[in-house]
Amino acid sequence: MKSLKQFAVSTAALGVALGLSFAAQAEMMIGFSQIGSESGWRTSETASIKAEAEKRGIDLKFSDAQQKQENQIKAVRSFIAQGVDGILLAPVVETGWDQVLKEAKDAGIPVVLVDRGVAADDSLYLTKVASDFVVEGALAAAWLAAETNAVCDVVELQGTVGSSAANDRKAGFESVVGNFPAINIIRSQSGDFTRSGGKEVMESFLKAEDGGKNICAVYAHNDDMALGAVQAIKEAGLKPGTDILIVSIDAVPDIFKAMADGDTNATIELNPHLGGPSFDAIAAAKEGKDVPKWIKANGPLFLPDTAAEEYKMRSK
Ligand code: AHR
Repeated sequence: MKSLKQFAVSTAALGVALGLSFAAQAEMMIGFSQIGSESGWRTSETASIKAEAEKRGIDLKFSDAQQKQENQIKAVRSFIAQGVDGILLAPVVETGWDQVLKEAKDAGIPVVLVDRGVAADDSLYLTKVASDFVVEGALAAAWLAAETNAVCDVVELQGTVGSSAANDRKAGFESVVGNFPAINIIRSQSGDFTRSGGKEVMESFLKAEDGGKNICAVYAHNDDMALGAVQAIKEAGLKPGTDILIVSIDAVPDIFKAMADGDTNATIELNPHLGGPSFDAIAAAKEGKDVPKWIKANGPLFLPDTAAEEYKMRSK
């Protein structure tokens, strides 16, 4: 598994291997259709991609879809009309992209999927720069199995319904817990990747499960929902991290604070620095070079032992 530093090195190496220079990218105009700002991770990703564009002198046209696919489709069409050199698309859900991706392809504009995937033929886009969400879910389940001797009733806080992040994190988790007959997912519902959604759904799980007495662990598809669950568990008079274990995904600064305080138990890093490899891929395509269909960006699992130190470094 790669650390953030190793990922930066390997993606820089990709740029060098593709024979690119920042100077060649400085004249590019690129459209970026972002999902919104539902989580701490999303906010960091937006800031990182904007900063990377500025560093390279790229003219970035940014559009915030506020969680709506229709807004993303409109944004992509507007980027095509402006004649951009490439498009970054963070698709809110997996389905319904074929037509607009075809329009971009017909206009000769390469589309890079950033962070999430689509259920469309891969000839319709240039590449996907993203983590393998199935692996993240499997890693969370492997940690939980080891931590509980494979005996645990789990509640699952799912991400946005229909998103590749929620679908694949669920599938990856289930693929591992399916091997352990005494690990059961007793409840599973979407908290929409938000802190308030996580809190609200966790409150309903606690109510339905005798105030939480039947719950051994929470698997949250992101840190923000885990942090919402922490609040709900405390308000129910239980101790998160001890009475109910919590494992989540993203590795945002706040989760390290929660882990250092003993409120959560593990997080898996989702790298937010996806701009560099995305811009490199577009520049390479413009030069007629081959680009791999999936540029992977998986991160490691972090535990409480390094949480205080990580929080200090990441909250600067
Ligand atoms: O697609 C990635 C997910 O979307 C992140 O885990 C979550 O925090 C976000 O909003």
